[in-house]
Amino acid sequence: MFRFGTPNTPSALRVMMLGCGELGKEVTIALQRLGVEVIGVDRYAGAPGMQVAHRAYVINMTDGAALKELVLREKPHLVVPEIEAIATDMLVEIEREKLAEVIPTARATQLTMNREGIRRLAAETLGLPTSPYCFADSLKEMQAAIDAIGYPCFIKPVMSSSGKGQSMVRKPDEVQAAWEYAAAGGRVNQGRVIVEGMIDFDYEITQLTVRATGTSGQIETFFCDPIGHVQVNGDYVESWQPMPMSDTAIKRSRQIAKAVTDNLGGRGIFGVELFIKGDDVWFSEVSPRPHDTGLVTLSTQRQSEFELHARAILGLPVDTRCREPGASAVIYGELEEIGIAFEGVVEALQVPASDLRLFGKPESFTRRRMGVALANGKDTTEARTRAKECAGRVRPVSGH
Ligand SMILES: Nc1ncnc2c1ncn2[C@@H]1O[C@H](COP(=O)(O)OP(=O)(O)O)[C@@H](O)[C@H]1O
Ligand SMILES: [Mg+2]
Repeated sequence: MFRFGTPNTPSALRVMMLGCGELGKEVTIALQRLGVEVIGVDRYAGAPGMQVAHRAYVINMTDGAALKELVLREKPHLVVPEIEAIATDMLVEIEREKLAEVIPTARATQLTMNREGIRRLAAETLGLPTSPYCFADSLKEMQAAIDAIGYPCFIKPVMSSSGKGQSMVRKPDEVQAAWEYAAAGGRVNQGRVIVEGMIDFDYEITQLTVRATGTSGQIETFFCDPIGHVQVNGDYVESWQPMPMSDTAIKRSRQIAKAVTDNLGGRGIFGVELFIKGDDVWFSEVSPRPHDTGLVTLSTQRQSEFELHARAILGLPVDTRCREPGASAVIYGELEEIGIAFEGVVEALQVPASDLRLFGKPESFTRRRMGVALANGKDTTEARTRAKECAGRVRPVSGH
């Protein structure tokens, strides 16, 4: 049981957010509404979440010593990772030395930051259906893996996210380029990749799954309605909720999500990514934290995925019900510039039942996610049309 206190006083309940992007920003706002003191941490100044945190620090979060020093200085009750690129071995130490509680668990952050850890857990330990896969440390090994798995297949650095360094290989003459792209795009240049056979799915979903204290006083598992989404080059561009699914596919999705999250343990929300074809379901990957495709829940659920995460980690009851159908559409920066401006915001919000989040990122890149449009509708088709219309009316322009 946590005691809720007053921020910036000795009674404060303190949370350290490791990562202050758009997802961390929404979690921070949700925590602030409950009077929690939030310490934002990211690798650059002025990150979205820092703009709403009580205090912020710029450190290299892959530097374990820097991370520990900050935890010792700030003494947070909870450490909440928002991104994968963190010195997770130090999170294990922080947890072991009881300096703070790591959300959901240090082990979960460690297993999910590396595709190898989570894939072996899901496929080999838990026996869940996944794409066929193989790991490789050189171009030669990768070619052998591809020969065994077949074309088309996906090549991904074992440590990367948002599609970075990831490519689909359709034929032999694309193999070398995929290897080079993976080596350049991996977070840590280990030159280790996963080769995954392509799953020819009908659609893919995020099954948001919450581990929170139930009425029994024990940790229980709660499921949100499935979120459908579209990915372009491994990056999400559009999502909607609820995604219509067969009863069998829903049941299987939840069994898989439960198996994985039971194993990872702790409290909080998880984004379980699944591929669906008919009644068949494959596990793809899992984030032990809010998921970008779940931004849609800001407009669909009684409690967004960010509020659910905040409540779950604080030991509070959660309500995962969907209120009405909705959709989200990403707004990209389009420009490479610091301090861009946005035109068309009035016109965008004239779209019926729409809403906007502009994240306030200091620097724009062509394919950087700078905002998201949200919309509701009588069904997800109408909501998607509205969200895309709303996003399309926002025009990034030079701020000079
Ligand atoms: N084995 C696969 N079969 C079919 N599609 C895939 C496969 N692996 C990845 N994809 C597509 O690429 C997207 C991003 O891949 P993912 O493994 O989730 O990478 P990231 O960790 O960067 O999100 C998936 O959501 C899916 O659309
Ligand atoms: Mg993914």
